[in-house]
Amino acid sequence: MKRVVIFGATGNTGLCSLRSAVENDLDVRAFVRDKAKVPEDLKSKIESVVGDVTNAEQVANAVAGRDAVVVVLGTRNDLSPTTVLSQGLKNIIDAMKAHNVELVSVCLSGKV
Ligand SMILES: NC(=O)c1ccc[n+]([C@@H]2O[C@H](COP(=O)([O-])OP(=O)(O)OC[C@H]3O[C@@H](n4cnc5c(N)ncnc54)[C@H](OP(=O)(O)O)[C@@H]3O)[C@@H](O)[C@H]2O)c1
Repeated sequence: MKRVVIFGATGNTGLCSLRSAVENDLDVRAFVRDKAKVPEDLKSKIESVVGDVTNAEQVANAVAGRDAVVVVLGTRNDLSPTTVLSQGLKNIIDAMKAHNVELVSVCLSGKV
């Protein structure tokens, strides 16, 4: 079974990704800020880990032992300047290199 970790698993896109991953029989780890946002019917079917994507150690622990990473991080309705997504993605890539994870799917917006 393919082992994936989803960053942003309780967001708009993340919830779709989470359900789709479960329905496709993947071994799913959800990296979340609040476990209460995981839908009740999925709670027993996934592993939820609480963390903040700007915390490199938490990200590394979440990536460890996974075959693939899914990134659907966003800023909800907050459109003000932020480095959360860029710093978070850097942490994720560093963790992937450290744990020899080569598969990644990313859905993000950026502004320069
Ligand atoms: N939805 C669209 O129509 C659309 C279209 C084009 C592009 N995009 C881009 O695709 C991406 C995903 O979109 P979306 O609408 O699904 O995003 P979203 O609803 O804003 O969800 C963002 C997710 O990221 C999580 N998150 C934010 N900051 C975090 C942090 N510091 N640590 C850990 N998790 C954090 C949020 O956690 P919480 O659940 O705790 O808030 C949430 O689960 C975004 O970058 C967006 O700009 C979206």
